[in-house]
Amino acid sequence: MTYRVAVNGFGRIGRDYLRCVLERGLFDDGVDVVAVNDVWDAATLTHLLRYDSAFGRLNHEVETVDGGIVVNGRHIDLSRLSDFCDCGKPGRRGDVT
Ligand SMILES: NC(=O)c1ccc[n+]([C@@H]2O[C@H](COP(=O)([O-])OP(=O)(O)OC[C@H]3O[C@@H](n4cnc5c(N)ncnc54)[C@H](O)[C@@H]3O)[C@@H](O)[C@H]2O)c1
Repeated sequence: MTYRVAVNGFGRIGRDYLRCVLERGLFDDGVDVVAVNDVWDAATLTHLLRYDSAFGRLNHEVETVDGGIVVNGRHIDLSRLSDFCDCGKPGRRGDVT
């Protein structure tokens, strides 16, 4: 079974979660991170995901495309909602937030 995951707050914990999913090979096997919500813009969040002063450069392709974040060719929807629970789009939130 694949879990569709939305990450609310893409700071230290949110980014480390995605990094952990990627580095354990779960991104292609069981954990599909479909959405990120944060108050920052896509370019800033992409930069912070790619370059990490504690863990080093991410060993995966990451870029900003159409206002979202593309990791290893897969688009992660980005929203900038202050209250993610009110986004009104259950699909965007995935199975787990
Ligand atoms: N890092 C830890 O070791 C630790 C331990 C226990 C608890 N916490 C708590 O967990 C939470 C996250 O910690 P962190 O270290 O990732 O913090 P962080 O400051 O690195 O990241 C928080 C992120 O949330 C974003 N944000 C702020 N308001 C938001 C909103 N309304 N909606 C969506 N995103 C929003 C910020 O832009 C930032 O990217 C905090 O509440 C923190 O107190 C952290």
